[in-house]
Amino acid sequence: MKYIIAIIQPYRLADVQAELYKEEVNLMTVSEVVGHGRQKGVTEIYRSYRESGNLLRKIRIEIAVNDDFVDRAVKAIMRGARSGESGEIGDGKIFVLPLERVYRIRTGETGGIAIG
Ligand SMILES: Nc1ncnc2c1ncn2[C@@H]1O[C@H](COP(=O)(O)OP(=O)(O)OP(=O)(O)O)[C@@H](O)[C@H]1O
Ligand SMILES: [Mg+2]
Repeated sequence: MKYIIAIIQPYRLADVQAELYKEEVNLMTVSEVVGHGRQKGVTEIYRSYRESGNLLRKIRIEIAVNDDFVDRAVKAIMRGARSGESGEIGDGKIFVLPLERVYRIRTGETGGIAIG
């Protein structure tokens, strides 16, 4: 099992969701965050709302998946989040972390079956 964390441009969220649903990835947590990448927010000001200082508004998507869903989930996020053909500065990042355990609270189920 893996835990995928993607930081994307807010205006790309609908596209990313649509691409994920096409791949039958239907469970996710979405939050509004602020951050900056290696340009420290400087070159992105014209495209992103500046929150405070050099921190820009981003969307964080979290998805827990079984191993056979990792590649398609990552590719779906890439398709949805990349601006144009070759992408643009600030389009975001995807982190894939090992996931040790999942529990569905209602049933007590655990492991792959509890993911979704
Ligand atoms: N190494 C990192 N650790 C934690 N968060 C990061 C890291 N890199 C990027 N982020 C988060 O992802 C957001 C988008 O990053 P961004 O796409 O600007 O990455 P980048 O490495 O600067 O690549 P690019 O040159 O394409 O802009 C940042 O605003 C920040 O919230
Ligand atoms: Mg950047």
